Amino acid sequence: MKTLRGERVSIRPATEADVKSLVALLAEPAVARWWGTGYDAERVRHDHLEDPRSETFTIEVDGQVAGLVLVSEENDPEYRHAALDISLSTAFQGRGLGREALRVVIDHLVRDRGHHRFTIDPDVENEPAIRCYAAVGFRPVGVMRSYSHVADGPWRDGLLMDLLADELP
Ligand SMILES: CC(C)(COP(=O)(O)OP(=O)(O)OC[C@H]1O[C@@H](n2cnc3c(N)ncnc32)[C@H](O)[C@@H]1OP(=O)(O)O)[C@@H](O)C(=O)NCCC(=O)NCCS
Repeated sequence: MKTLRGERVSIRPATEADVKSLVALLAEPAVARWWGTGYDAERVRHDHLEDPRSETFTIEVDGQVAGLVLVSEENDPEYRHAALDISLSTAFQGRGLGREALRVVIDHLVRDRGHHRFTIDPDVENEPAIRCYAAVGFRPVGVMRSYSHVADGPWRDGLLMDLLADELP
């Protein structure tokens, strides 16, 4: 896949060369709070380079690794859609880069892979994420109770949001 470009972000498939940066990014408290803990190099390789159920894209800004986007495609033709997840390094948060990166990846998935529907599922209390996703065009579907937990914390509710390609702003 060629590198995808937005105004400020470049997005490309994650590689072995990104492992160190991704380990550091996922260890940041402002990321780990929502993404979970325990990401050493082995787990990053397993989850982000080798897991056949998903693809990880690296977000670069000014030549630096600024974040990652995870894409999981459901390719059953009767239920086809792509589920997304994203995290940005703390220094890159709150600058509109999350919405730009998501839009670039979604445009690619529509144009090059024929997807028509996208989902994303932030924690109900992750306000910056929910606002970012709403700005991209995601709409709340409903609350998934006791949906996920990080580390040994309690089960937490998740907000399922979806977006249709023909509703993109
Ligand atoms: C979630 C994330 C990807 C969003 O990307 P981003 O580039 O920071 O988001 P944007 O700058 O596009 O938008 C952030 C929105 O949250 C708002 N916001 C920022 N801090 C906030 C806070 N403490 N409380 C409420 N809203 C807040 C911003 O004002 C903006 O909303 P607005 O445009 O309606 O004013 C990024 O913040 C991140 O990686 N966070 C840590 C990890 C994480 O939560 N990952 C998502 C897991 S689902």
